[in-house]
Amino acid sequence: MADMQTLEVRDLDIGVGPHSVVDGVDFSIGRGEIVALVGESGSGKSLTALAIMGLLSGSVRQTGGTATLDGDLLDLGNDAAMQKLRGTSLSMIFQEPVASLNPLLSVGAQVAESLIVHGRATRRDAWTRAVEMLRDVGIPAPEQRARQLPSELSGGMCQRVMIASALIAKPRLLIADEPTTALDVTIQAQILELMRRLRDETETSVLIITHDMGVVASIADRVCVMYGGGIVEQAEVHDLFAAPRHPYTKLLLATIPRMDGPRKTELFSISGTVPDLSAWPEGCRFRTRCPLASDQCTTRPPLEPVAGGDAHASACWHSDKVEHLA
Ligand SMILES: Nc1ncnc2c1ncn2[C@@H]1O[C@H](COP(=O)(O)OP(=O)(O)O)[C@@H](O)[C@H]1O
Ligand SMILES: [Mg+2]
Repeated sequence: MADMQTLEVRDLDIGVGPHSVVDGVDFSIGRGEIVALVGESGSGKSLTALAIMGLLSGSVRQTGGTATLDGDLLDLGNDAAMQKLRGTSLSMIFQEPVASLNPLLSVGAQVAESLIVHGRATRRDAWTRAVEMLRDVGIPAPEQRARQLPSELSGGMCQRVMIASALIAKPRLLIADEPTTALDVTIQAQILELMRRLRDETETSVLIITHDMGVVASIADRVCVMYGGGIVEQAEVHDLFAAPRHPYTKLLLATIPRMDGPRKTELFSISGTVPDLSAWPEGCRFRTRCPLASDQCTTRPPLEPVAGGDAHASACWHSDKVEHLA
C-alpha cells in the first residue's frame, strides 16, 4: 500500500462515433508526482484528461478501461458521483480560460466557490482565502480584482483566476491542460513555481498537458508521450531527453528550439500530417511517418520496458535503433 498511486489509468479507450481516438492508454501518477503528457495536436491528450474528470459528452464516449484515485475506482460515467469529486479531489485547468469562467459572477466569488459549495469554509473565510490565492497566482491588487467580472480582466488574468480556483481546494490530482500557453514567460514561470509549491506543500499530484518542452523540462518528474491515441513512450524526464527510445519522441525532441532560443516556436513539424481519425494505419499508428518502419510494424507494438532503462518504456519494435536515428 505504501506505493499506492494517486491516479491509475488502465486500458482507457475513447471513441468518437465509430472511431477510436484513444486506444489502450495506461499510465499512473504517484503521490506528489508531476507527470507531463506531450504530443502533437489531435493525439488525444485533452480527451484523456476529460475522461479522467468524467467530462466526456456528446458523441465522445469512453468505450473501455478504468481509472482509480488513491485506489478507489472512479465511476467516470456517473455525473453526480464525479461532480462531488470535481473541485475538491480532482481539479482541472482548461485550455480556454474565458469560456470556462462564469461571466456574471465576480472572479473572487468564483475562486471562493469550491470552498463554499463543499462546506470547507464560511463565506467570509472563503473570500479571504480567494483573495490570497489570487495574490499567489500573480494578480496585482487582488482585493480590488476579486470584485471584478471576468470581462473586466485580460485573457492572461482570467487564466490565472482559473488556476486559482483549481488550486484553492488543494486537490489530490490537478490536471492542467496547456495551462501556461497563453501567458507571458514571467507569469508562466510564476504559475509553474506555484504548482511546484503546491505539490511540495500538499503532495498534490499533477498531470500537465503541454506542447512546450521547456515547461516539461522545468516542472515534470516523468513524461508520457502520446501519438495517435496511445502512449508511445514513458520515462523520467532526464531519461527521455537524454535517450529517447521511440522514433516519434526522437523526432519531437529534434524539432524543439534550443532551450536558450525563442520559446514559443511551433514545435511539431515532423514530415507528414496526423492522419484523419478514420485513416489510422493498422499496427503502429506512427509507421506511415516513421523512418524506421518495417513489415513488423503492421502489428501494433506493446508499450514495454526498454533494456537498461528503469521505468522507461517504449512502444516500438525498433526501439534499440532509435539512438542511431539522425
Ligand atoms: N467533441 C469532439 N467531437 C469529435 N471529435 C473530437 C471531439 N473532441 C476531440 N475530437 C477528436 O479527437 C481527437 C483527439 O482530440 P484531443 O484529445 O482534443 O487532442 P489533443 O488534446 O491531443 O490535441 C482529435 O482527432 C479530435 O479531432
Ligand atoms: Mg488538447
